[in-house]
Amino acid sequence: AKQTRGVSSEVVAQAKKYAPGANFTATWKRADALKVRPDSTTTTPRIPENFPVMTDKVWVWDTWPLTGLDTKPMTYKGWHVIFSLVAPRNIFFGDRHWEARIGYFYSKDGRNWKYGGHLFPDGYSKGSREWAGTAIYTSKGTVTQFYTASGRDNGGINNTDFLQRLAMSSGKIHADSKGVYFTGFRKHKIIAQADGKYYQTQEQSKGAPIIYAFRDPYVFRDPKDKKIYALFEGNTAGVAGTYQCKARDLGKLPPGHTVSSDANLYTGNIGLMRATNGTKMSKWKLLPPLLSTNCVNQQTERPHMVIKNGTYYLFTISHQFTYAPGLSGPDGVYGFAGPSLRSDYKPLNGSALVLGNPPDAPIQNYSHEVMPNLIVQSFIDTVPGANGPVYGGTLAPSLQLAINGTNTYLTRVLPYAYIPSMKAVK
Ligand code: FRU
Repeated sequence: AKQTRGVSSEVVAQAKKYAPGANFTATWKRADALKVRPDSTTTTPRIPENFPVMTDKVWVWDTWPLTGLDTKPMTYKGWHVIFSLVAPRNIFFGDRHWEARIGYFYSKDGRNWKYGGHLFPDGYSKGSREWAGTAIYTSKGTVTQFYTASGRDNGGINNTDFLQRLAMSSGKIHADSKGVYFTGFRKHKIIAQADGKYYQTQEQSKGAPIIYAFRDPYVFRDPKDKKIYALFEGNTAGVAGTYQCKARDLGKLPPGHTVSSDANLYTGNIGLMRATNGTKMSKWKLLPPLLSTNCVNQQTERPHMVIKNGTYYLFTISHQFTYAPGLSGPDGVYGFAGPSLRSDYKPLNGSALVLGNPPDAPIQNYSHEVMPNLIVQSFIDTVPGANGPVYGGTLAPSLQLAINGTNTYLTRVLPYAYIPSMKAVK
């Protein structure tokens, strides 16, 4: 029997709606997060330590398919294409972030992938390394890659330089009977920086317990107003430690629950910006955050959206170690539902937890993306093995979700690295 945990679809449909640019930010409340109770329909199955590896050349982690502005994975001239953060497989797995580049893979069947190399020619991207984003096919073979320019320009390998800016570059996709390759991607542009008003700057983040965020742009078109928006991961603006937890961050807390004085150091949010020059997508205006997790969690990474029958499902990934003191939940994907892009989002399953790692493998999967077909792709981080930790750096089995109102259910385990297309461009 399917368990009901979240509010009804009627409650979501009647939740308050606002214009996309309005000054309203929904909250993930402490009272919601206290309801995190993993069960069989929200727990990812264990992955054996002898999992298949996509390539022995590079570690593979955060991954996104080539999509249209409708966020549907697509084939181009018969080829599936995905983009991943990659780093040489001969460096220590944990050091990969500081030399991350965007690589790409192509496939005929959406599950057996061939590595194509780096997307950008060497020496052209902004920052010192490339972090997550989205790749949008616009028209006539043009692909625009949005990404996080991490570190200052040409800063080399430096794990103390946390600057993050949002960037873009366009190129051409080419396909023949042997595979896919790209040209172009020589002009790169910074399209957004933390403003200190809605989004915390690196300067303001000093004293935060965990790296601040201004990263992971996710570009899509809102079917309601037909405008192009990007979600991204941010933190609430202001000097770390000055935020005061509000009633709307806490919700109806059970008796005896205390909010420790340092909970205010945890200030994740899901940012929003709007493209002001249409499908050129090179000019953007920052808008207030869509959702904040103040006093709940410091990180709402890789936010993304599935829009189905007028309901907006807002997803984000987060970690056990980024929860504010007094709260806990597994590494995994969390989600919310609302009646419009900017609305008073309600947590899925009552708590927001959608899929979390099994307790005996707490860092097994990460960087989940729920696609419009409700297939969830993620990568294997680390699984416990007979002789110690086994590092993944390759895509995990995809998982099929079902959503009923605000309740989600894991219904099927799919093949490793399975990212099927939902449409074709000839
Ligand atoms: C999630 C993440 C992203 C970031 C990337 C850096 O796994 O932390 O937020 O873009 O990894 O490697």
